[in-house]
Amino acid sequence: MGDTATMESGYVFDTSWEREHGRLLALEEIYDSQSRHRLTELGVADGWHCLEVGCGAGSIARWLARQVGASGHVLATDVDTRFANAHGLSNLEIRTHDLRSDDLPDASFDLVHARAVIEHLPDRDEALRRLAAATRPGGWVVVEDFDFDGWAAVDDFDLDGPMDPAAAGYFPPGYTGPAERLGRALRATFGAADADPGTSRRLPEALTDAGLTEVGAQVHAPVRTGGDAAFLPLTLRSLRPRLLATGEVTDWDIEDVISLTKSFGTTYLPNFMVIAWGRKPL
Ligand SMILES: C[S@@+](CC[C@H](N)C(=O)[O-])C[C@H]1O[C@@H](n2cnc3c(N)ncnc32)[C@H](O)[C@@H]1O
Repeated sequence: MGDTATMESGYVFDTSWEREHGRLLALEEIYDSQSRHRLTELGVADGWHCLEVGCGAGSIARWLARQVGASGHVLATDVDTRFANAHGLSNLEIRTHDLRSDDLPDASFDLVHARAVIEHLPDRDEALRRLAAATRPGGWVVVEDFDFDGWAAVDDFDLDGPMDPAAAGYFPPGYTGPAERLGRALRATFGAADADPGTSRRLPEALTDAGLTEVGAQVHAPVRTGGDAAFLPLTLRSLRPRLLATGEVTDWDIEDVISLTKSFGTTYLPNFMVIAWGRKPL
């Protein structure tokens, strides 16, 4: 494992933001259930050795540690481990690690999992190759990334097409304009940080290119009701200066979408999550 202090993280979110921990907890609240479901389906069991990359606040790492028991082990890494907490689990090790540059043990893990991490890295194919290299033959790599087109993808599913929230009707009248502009601003913000919001749709192909077999994928489309979710408002507030700097969106647009997510009685879809997996050949 190398020294991360010498390298700028390049990560689009400001991890020193006062509410970043809350944002990560809100992400876990929405997306953990389907991650756990998929990992269970793949057979995570007693004695497995797991790597949780970019573990954030660590809920999946802790869940894995409970699944693999005392004979198993979980290594949870992140470029910034301030929010990760092992909650006293003796088979869970948390380590500061930059996936772009720091070494990983070779062919060591039964399971390697990374959620909402790969899309942030400038060299995504190389990152996937590293995850595959760290997996033992017969082990699984599971990668999840957000689908930024998800809220537009029902009527008009076009892999390269523009985002059109109005077509899918996921936003009530009056919100489609702000949502459209926000979509453009998010893409520009990620692009400026060398991140790629289109990563998720290419994951099955990318996992195959990384040498994995038995590749599969599913989409998790969580339905939220206004007033119950903090993730989208906190994400928009965290990114607000960068979103405004793109010139694509106004402060009013951002506040409009935030107010939608906070109004009781509305239903909306935050970003979909693509969950993709592949197995290292024996
Ligand atoms: C959107 S958060 C997701 C956190 C967690 N995986 C989850 O889904 O709850 C992305 C995480 O990736 C981490 N990260 C960003 N760049 C990284 C890198 N180069 N190496 C390792 N972790 C990184 C961030 O610090 C952050 O914790």
